[in-house]
Amino acid sequence: MQNYQTVSVLVEGPIATVKLNRPDALNALNSLLVRELVSALDALEADDSVRCVVLTGSDKAFCAGADVKEMAKLSAADIGRADHLKPVWERAAGFQKPLIAALSGYALGGGLELAMCCDIIIASEGTKLGQPEINIGIIPGGGGTQRLPRAVGKYKAMEMILTGGTISAEEAKALGLVNRVVPAGKYLEEATKLASEIASKAPIAVRSAKKAIAASQEMGLSSGLELERAHFYDLFGTEDKKEGMSAFLEKRKPNFMGK
Ligand code: CAA
Repeated sequence: MQNYQTVSVLVEGPIATVKLNRPDALNALNSLLVRELVSALDALEADDSVRCVVLTGSDKAFCAGADVKEMAKLSAADIGRADHLKPVWERAAGFQKPLIAALSGYALGGGLELAMCCDIIIASEGTKLGQPEINIGIIPGGGGTQRLPRAVGKYKAMEMILTGGTISAEEAKALGLVNRVVPAGKYLEEATKLASEIASKAPIAVRSAKKAIAASQEMGLSSGLELERAHFYDLFGTEDKKEGMSAFLEKRKPNFMGK
């Protein structure tokens, strides 16, 4: 894996942990971090030994949003011509393997939007989540106005985005925005445990499940059911289907090879 300045990547067996690493700016997303995160995710997607990825920050901040110092200099023409942030939303949301966000401290603006591009969100007690863009005269630009209402409903999303206020991890869990809230300092451990469990499943089935669930956020029920059926039928052609069903019948643990 390449050496990066603003992210670090640790691969241990089938689990990769990508840590945002701009502590002086609470992991704010600047052009360099965006480029490096996209490149790290590209490499992890291409690495067949990696089955699940955990995306995290520091205890103090998962990510405090897009870098305001960088954005302050940009005109409408600048951002419209070259949106330096767009690649990171596209890369994270289009990532084919399960992506687990492990949050602590602040998950604000683009930071929350990045977490919402992931598949599962674990948060430390004390994590503050919000879309504060309105406080600086803009709106969320990384999917917040679309993914947040899908996660928490229109009314709570309106309140969060129009006031720019934050909610606690517990509130986020009650709203369905966070899967699990864990004691401070345990977020990475919990996310890694969950990643290991997912990594032990049949990789092609995991990928198909992720694709079908992601599609449910975009398509109507009948086309979604059709897509699910196509994936379901395809999986009957895999070695892992034979292995999974044989293992069940032989009362042993399956050994999935991703074939
Ligand atoms: N961009 C750039 N720098 C940031 C930053 C950001 N989003 N968030 C924090 N920092 C920097 C601060 O400027 C400060 O650096 P200096 O010491 O050089 O001034 C350092 O990180 C530490 O921050 P604070 O001193 O402010 O720390 P705090 O604990 O007092 O407050 C905070 C923490 C409440 C998160 C506060 O930093 C804050 O409000 N940050 C901005 C949050 C924000 O508005 N995010 C949305 C950005 S817009 C966006 O994300 C658009 C989009 O949808 C894509």
